[in-house]
Amino acid sequence: MWGGAVTEPERVWFNPYLPGFTRDPYPHYKELTESHPVQDHPLGFWFLSRYDDVLALLRAGQSVEAAAQDTITGVVNASMLDRDPPDHTRLRALVTKVFTRRAIAALEPMIVELVDTALDRMAEQGSSDLVQQLAFPLPFAVISRMLGLPPVDGARVRELSGTLVRALEVVVDEQAAQAIADARVELGELTRDLLAWKRANPADDLLTALITAEHEGQVLNEDELVSQVVLLYVAGHETTVNLIANGTHALLRDPGQLELLRGRPDLIGNAVEEFLRYDSPVQQTRRVIVTPYSVDGAEIPIGSFVIACLAAANRDERMFGADAGELRLERKQARNHLSFGGGPHHCLGAALARLEGQIAIGRLVRRFPRLSLDGEVEHNNRINLRGLNALPVKVRATV
Ligand code: HEM
Repeated sequence: MWGGAVTEPERVWFNPYLPGFTRDPYPHYKELTESHPVQDHPLGFWFLSRYDDVLALLRAGQSVEAAAQDTITGVVNASMLDRDPPDHTRLRALVTKVFTRRAIAALEPMIVELVDTALDRMAEQGSSDLVQQLAFPLPFAVISRMLGLPPVDGARVRELSGTLVRALEVVVDEQAAQAIADARVELGELTRDLLAWKRANPADDLLTALITAEHEGQVLNEDELVSQVVLLYVAGHETTVNLIANGTHALLRDPGQLELLRGRPDLIGNAVEEFLRYDSPVQQTRRVIVTPYSVDGAEIPIGSFVIACLAAANRDERMFGADAGELRLERKQARNHLSFGGGPHHCLGAALARLEGQIAIGRLVRRFPRLSLDGEVEHNNRINLRGLNALPVKVRATV
């Protein structure tokens, strides 16, 4: 392992390249949180892993800026995720106007229907891959319908957005960086075409609402519109897939908790919070320090890039108790997890993600009393958007 050895051999640095890290990063996170929670990392960034420190950073207001990320949102660098006030406030207010709790609650019948159709298919097959059948297509279909997309080349858009989110990983090689840049251009163009189409074919949907949304006399300009649409589109499904897959995986590895949920379907709301805490779909976020900022006596200089490890904070025993490493669907503090971030950039889609997770996992468990793992899962090997490429399950007992 690199680092540490030169000056302070006893120190453990955040190292996502440790063998087995992407399969199970949590023992490493625990070590960091307990032994070296505030790191001025030899690779040139700061790394925070304790709950209180991560939350304070997310809420630090004027002291931090959104790390101008060359990320999913960088299609034209105008999405709210990468902006600070006053732009962030304006953009978020405009999108919030159309992304209301009521609009989300109204999606319930559609989500139920999509889930039940997927479960019917799984029932016919007996054993199948939960990621392909349910976890991936559901959030994609929901956000597409919510936006009011015309029949576009869904497979291509999925491919492009899958490439784009690789920019959120800690390090990308040159070839990957080029693929991401190309995907960004193509997705931007597709979105511009889509907006032109929607202007000619307005309907009762999110895209039409975004085009016409006004806040204090202002509408989104074209670049802003493209960026917010891409953000909603990508954030709308690249994360929720991992909530459904990681959550189901955690449950299937813990028969006691699976039984508990089966007997107490009313627990599903808290269960989804616990799934989010236990194995966070977004493991980290970043900020840049803009005014003097100190954590636990350490001064973080202006201009520093700070990684806030949401997933490590979610397992912090000082916050969640000695059993923080275990899945406990009845955990009282589950909802305090930081998986949706916090402060001004707190996830705008949290209510939608929760609804999808509750309906998908709740109905899955109810429908298949003999649901079980059916072979090895395939991890996506991502450091940040942690999830599964395949989760083979059996929905019937073998006869
Ligand atoms: C922001 C996680 C689902 C839209 C965020 C942030 C996190 C997050 C951690 C904050 C990033 C930061 O502070 O730097 C998740 C997780 C999800 C999920 C874990 C699923 C389980 C969704 C969905 C949508 C969405 C379904 C929309 C359809 C957004 C938007 C922002 C955001 C627009 C930016 C908010 C802002 O900058 O003000 N999300 N998200 N997310 N999320 Fe989500």
